Amino acid sequence: MTSDASSLATSDTGVLRDQFLSAMSRVPLSVAVVVAGAPDARIALTVGTFISVSADPPMVLVAVKSGSPLYSAVSQHRRFVINVLSCGQVEHSERFSGRPRTGRPYDLAEARWIRAAGETQRFLEGAVAAFDCELVEARSIASHVLLIGRVDEIVAGEDHPLVYCSRAYGTLSPLAGAV
Ligand SMILES: Cc1cc2nc3c(=O)[nH]c(=O)nc-3n(C[C@H](O)[C@H](O)[C@H](O)COP(=O)(O)O)c2cc1C
Repeated sequence: MTSDASSLATSDTGVLRDQFLSAMSRVPLSVAVVVAGAPDARIALTVGTFISVSADPPMVLVAVKSGSPLYSAVSQHRRFVINVLSCGQVEHSERFSGRPRTGRPYDLAEARWIRAAGETQRFLEGAVAAFDCELVEARSIASHVLLIGRVDEIVAGEDHPLVYCSRAYGTLSPLAGAV
């Protein structure tokens, strides 16, 4: 049996990590598909770490794994679009997280995009909202990079949002009597 301080510290770290993942799985997330890269070579990735940072000026944040091709595309082109998924878009979440039920993973041609002059595959059709951003800061923290973007353009949709909680997809319904 080993009882030295380093093995105790390692097992404590493992326990805390498991508790952290379990506790975080109970925190509801919005689900977004982030798109970046050259017009003829876009890359897209599902993220649950999208938050608003500021309204004056409008700024947002997402966290992506450091080795992700999406991060390379953002750091090269300095722009990204965050498409917040609606409740009917589970398929997009699965596709752009690399595990689609059918079709090819990460294939942007499998989704429908809003057509704008001179632009391709940036705004996802049917998203709850989409934010076109210029990268203002990329900060490495542990395994991830925090991408902070200043919002230049917004496309607002009307559908209900997709929510990910307890390792399952759902959507929101209002509580009776609550404002
Ligand atoms: C609901 C959901 C939320 C996710 N959120 C993030 C995220 O915020 N940041 C991130 O880097 N990856 C996130 N992922 C994982 C990526 O979409 C993708 O699965 C992962 O980067 C693939 O990594 P791998 O190639 O090492 O398997 C999320 C996946 C899902 C399904």
